[in-house]
Amino acid sequence: MSKKSNRNKQPFVIAIDGPAGSGKGTVAKKLASKLNFHYLDSGAIYRIIAYAAKKKNINSKSVDELINLVKFYAWSNMGKNSKITFSENNVLLDGDKISNFIRTESIGKLASEIAVHDKLRASILQYQRSFCKWPGLVAEGRDMTSVVFPDANLKIYLNASVDERVKRRYKQLISKGNDVNLSDLADEIEIRDRRDKEREVSPLVIVKEAYVIETDNLNETKTVTKILSLFNKKINRY
Ligand code: C5P
Repeated sequence: MSKKSNRNKQPFVIAIDGPAGSGKGTVAKKLASKLNFHYLDSGAIYRIIAYAAKKKNINSKSVDELINLVKFYAWSNMGKNSKITFSENNVLLDGDKISNFIRTESIGKLASEIAVHDKLRASILQYQRSFCKWPGLVAEGRDMTSVVFPDANLKIYLNASVDERVKRRYKQLISKGNDVNLSDLADEIEIRDRRDKEREVSPLVIVKEAYVIETDNLNETKTVTKILSLFNKKINRY
């Protein structure tokens, strides 16, 4: 998209939701890179807050203290003093590389526990929206299509069977040197799925405008190709 001819247009937003292990992260990152769009890994924000809370011994039910962490690390002075940096292959908190620490299943569990709080979710809403810049954004998580970017130009729900998602997460965690038990991981993913889908605020849902893509028999490259063809149809009318 040329900046000149589109200067009155809003950035193009591709919002992708889906359960743990559905491949959202890799697919969204590849899409963003192919399109030269910005990228929002919203799960990482919940994970960072969970990680910081754990370090400071803050209970997952202490909403006000959790919100103070958001204010301190992510959204102080409307993001100008954010201590979170997303680099190509890592996440930095106060300059420290923390990707490996936040990608564990135990931080995923804690992230999902803190993510049930309405006030906490509200406190990171504007921070998430601040990633939406020209020429566009690929945002992935659980409520990108429903709450954070309800007017997204293209909405995708990525899905896969529990067995497939557990296999993918297992491979991912093992490749990063984590010690993982397959049956514990399956239990953890099922519990996390249930919590994310059944919570009262911003549960993981399939919005009616979303294209549902089942990825059991689709590798990441084919999934990206499929989304790109949907994008091309939309961009023609944009
Ligand atoms: O996507 P990821 O597995 O990194 O997300 C970790 C947890 O953060 C999810 O299980 C979910 O509870 C929470 N989350 C959320 N809303 C988002 C993204 C993540 O509630 N938009």
